[in-house]
Amino acid sequence: MKMFCLSFKLNGKSVQLSVQPAKLLVDLLREDLRLTGTKIGCREGECGACTVLVDGQPVNSCLIPAVKVHGREVLTIEGLEREDGVLDIIQESFISEGAIQCGFCTGGMILNAKALLDRRQEPDESEIRHALSGVLCRCTGYRKIIQAVKTASRIRKEGRGNKG
Ligand code: FES
Ligand code: FES
Repeated sequence: MKMFCLSFKLNGKSVQLSVQPAKLLVDLLREDLRLTGTKIGCREGECGACTVLVDGQPVNSCLIPAVKVHGREVLTIEGLEREDGVLDIIQESFISEGAIQCGFCTGGMILNAKALLDRRQEPDESEIRHALSGVLCRCTGYRKIIQAVKTASRIRKEGRGNKG
């Protein structure tokens, strides 16, 4: 089978590897690159557990071939943590607000929240709900997740966040 020479930026580092043209981004991340923070729920674009950011925009990685990120920048949940182990303020807020139970949806929630907060410093609740609407949580009832995003927004605005 003809392989594609894929080159892209992943969590701030350049990556080059050969991939089958039909390989999905989620499988490349989890199987080839061992980034298992990106979860697989439905493989149909319904649950959002597989969300990653591509050039800052949330994408369901179960729906796009890996070759589509050639030359682009991908951020997975692993990329939010600093190299010294300090968590991003959105991650910290999810912990402090008790917004994580089983954690299966958490990466998708946090990356969608990051995309929102990077374009809107102080989103209102309806904007937060809309931004997270593509991610299903079966555990928390969403109230604490919304509160976590509000908390992260406030801390980032005050300039106390670890990033951005
Ligand atoms: S696994 Fe991709 S949206 Fe559910
Ligand atoms: S914390 Fe379990 S699915 Fe959201």
